[in-house]
Amino acid sequence: MVLIAPSILSADFSCLGKEIVKLNDAGADLIHIDVMDGVFVPNLTFGAPVVKSIRPYSKLPFDVHLMVEKPSILIKDFADAGADFITVHLECKEEIPFLISLIKKEKKKVGLSIKPNTKVSDILPYIPDIDLILVMSVEPGFGGQKFQQEAIKKIADLKELIGRKKVLISVDGGINDVTAPACVYAGADILVAGSYVFKNKPYKKAIEKLKR
Ligand code: DX5
Ligand code: ZN
Repeated sequence: MVLIAPSILSADFSCLGKEIVKLNDAGADLIHIDVMDGVFVPNLTFGAPVVKSIRPYSKLPFDVHLMVEKPSILIKDFADAGADFITVHLECKEEIPFLISLIKKEKKKVGLSIKPNTKVSDILPYIPDIDLILVMSVEPGFGGQKFQQEAIKKIADLKELIGRKKVLISVDGGINDVTAPACVYAGADILVAGSYVFKNKPYKKAIEKLKR
């Protein structure tokens, strides 16, 4: 069954702890945390202290998506704060093998993300060394954008390329009850959803609808 990772980018930040509890109780499978540095993307969000402060509110895996130019200086901090998956962008400014080794050193699951204009083939060399591929179906930076259909083919191509290897395919951006089925059919294991979950209360209903 597909896993649902609500993105707290669309949560009520004035009560983030309570929001995490609600997502936990609503049947979320992971908590997706969008970290932005204002450089890699034109937006700024959470640092490791925020992750640390919300960690006690749920035992669900924290899926930290680093939309930052230089992840290396942040990996240990997010690992210490309680991240379970740490995803970096293939398009960031640092060497990918180095970043993979840093995440592995912290004994965390390694994710690699590709933006809409990055080819699936660019990620191939790293597949044996990673746990998750995050296919962006919008330009990273903001919630509430329109799903880009090209992501579907990317997911299907990745599914075929991955074969029997145990690498999860996650898709992020514009996921709702209309776009989710095609992603799952193409082979997505995880759906990241921000505005859809937070705009359709109760969260349990929204999460169930995506799973269906
Ligand atoms: C965008 C973030 C997403 C975002 C998705 O850069 O990576 O995780 O929160 O939001 P929606 O689901 O609203 O497109
Ligand atoms: Zn994200």
